[in-house]
Amino acid sequence: MKYIIAPSILSADFGNLQRDIEMINQSDADWFHVDVMDGVFVPNISFGFPILSAVKKHATKPLDVHLMIVEPDKFIPEFAKAGADRITVHYEACTHLHRTIQLIKASGCKAGVALNPHTPVAFLNDIIEDLDLVLIMSVNPGFGGQQFIHNTYKKIQDLKRLIQGKNEDLIIEVDGGVGLQNIGTLVSAGANAFVAGNAIFVSDNPTETISKMKSLFSS
Ligand code: DX5
Ligand code: ZN
Repeated sequence: MKYIIAPSILSADFGNLQRDIEMINQSDADWFHVDVMDGVFVPNISFGFPILSAVKKHATKPLDVHLMIVEPDKFIPEFAKAGADRITVHYEACTHLHRTIQLIKASGCKAGVALNPHTPVAFLNDIIEDLDLVLIMSVNPGFGGQQFIHNTYKKIQDLKRLIQGKNEDLIIEVDGGVGLQNIGTLVSAGANAFVAGNAIFVSDNPTETISKMKSLFSS
């Protein structure tokens, strides 16, 4: 099983973005997690295409783009063009989720769906075979540095059951309040990709923190 660490650049120092991108390039991390917020779907605004293109220019690892926006269909081709390798949309923001997933794939990207803490994984039953990834939100989306919600473990187990015999290669990614203290338990529940913002960027030595996270997978 391949386990993924995806540092969230939402917690990077935007005045030194290139430095922080190089740090991730040099580290044991696997992907860049890029959080796009529109101030409508979530009560915060982060960044859009110019930042994504700037990250793409320097990043040597895939860009995992998490769209916390309404009407994502309007922008998916442009996110793909700006450098996204994976695009994850929110279940709660998509009226025609099947169409949106097809659009992501037609744009040349891997397709993911994110679930807010209150959204049951059972809602993905009829689309699970079309997905490359499911992002389980372990905080209410909008901000870095929030506290991990415990019910996440149960949701990961539910999702693990849901994919059985249907799409066992699906990546189960967890986002929000993830760090050295809970990655082990999340792995036991069935997750295999981990987004971490604050746990990495607020630590004294981000590169070392990433290595420690990765080492949890080999034990
Ligand atoms: C939250 C974002 C997360 C965020 C995680 O809305 O989707 O990716 O950056 O930050 P931490 O790891 O600090 O909870
Ligand atoms: Zn995210």
